Amino acid sequence: MTAPEVIASRLMTIRSSSCRAQLIAAGLLALLLAGVRPPSAQAYTVLITGANSGIGLEFAKQYAAEGWTVIATDRRAEQPRSLTELAARYKNVRIETLDVTSIDQAHALAQKLANVPIDVLINNAGVYNDRSRCRPDDEECPGDWSVESFGKLKFPLLDTIMAVNIKGPLIVSEAFYGNVKASVLKKIVAISSSNGTLTGEKSPRPGAIFYRMSKAALNREMQIVAASTRSDGVTVVMLNPGPTLTEHQEYLKRYPGMLTTSFTVRNMIETIDKVTIRDTGRFLRYDGATEPW
Ligand SMILES: NC(=O)c1ccc[n+]([C@@H]2O[C@H](COP(=O)([O-])OP(=O)(O)OC[C@H]3O[C@@H](n4cnc5c(N)ncnc54)[C@H](OP(=O)(O)O)[C@@H]3O)[C@@H](O)[C@H]2O)c1
Repeated sequence: MTAPEVIASRLMTIRSSSCRAQLIAAGLLALLLAGVRPPSAQAYTVLITGANSGIGLEFAKQYAAEGWTVIATDRRAEQPRSLTELAARYKNVRIETLDVTSIDQAHALAQKLANVPIDVLINNAGVYNDRSRCRPDDEECPGDWSVESFGKLKFPLLDTIMAVNIKGPLIVSEAFYGNVKASVLKKIVAISSSNGTLTGEKSPRPGAIFYRMSKAALNREMQIVAASTRSDGVTVVMLNPGPTLTEHQEYLKRYPGMLTTSFTVRNMIETIDKVTIRDTGRFLRYDGATEPW
């Protein structure tokens, strides 16, 4: 048995709380003297892409509240108010700029974070429709889905969606791989969607071609990243948040079955906690159930 295991087993048998407190203090001292980080949430770090709104912002809020060090990234020229407010509330939130389509920005940030282990890297940034006519501060603007229906396709949106949803997670996963490998938990997560399924629909409905093909490609690329990183003990999973009522999806609130952002993110954090290297390459629903695709 290691020293901490001995202490833990003795704790089980000791009833006196003062003795227990002394042993806990002795155990922590032993860990510190041995140079081992105690497994507290404060010791863990998460980097989130697209953290200024929706699911990414909620990940940042919930991890920050749990005491994790949160590296919340966004691609805006000016710091988004949502993140400024979060960092004012939690000292453990650090805001960094990262456009996931920019190899230069990813490498510059990776260099800045060279000595920072990243326990969980969340590839969350995503584009699903055309928001070019939405004012940047109009969070409830629904965006335009019509331009990705067959017969009305506007191909510049395809280029954007491919760059953000497919290329972005590869750029980010590769740029910060050293940080993930150097961490304790060693997990890479990609926020995917059931829209990427190839086998999960009896009869595929029309529409959202760009977005749906991008998530199918994301799943495939992350499956291959998982195969490439398994021997380093890095766990890679793709998560489907489910239909999540973010600020940008407020217009869907009258539809039954929409889930709150806090609910889906709470579930995804629990699923991320639970996954191990045995799960690497899997596509999971927010609650850990296997997703067909
Ligand atoms: N909400 C759902 O029901 C649902 C369901 C399944 C999957 N998902 C997935 O969940 C993820 C988050 O979506 P969401 O619903 O939370 O959407 P959202 O509120 O629109 O958030 C998307 C985030 O991605 C950022 N982003 C876009 N392009 C970027 C780039 N080039 N570099 C860095 N960040 C960029 C956005 O930043 P800006 O504000 O600057 O544009 C925003 O912060 C996406 O991958 C989405 O596909 C969502």
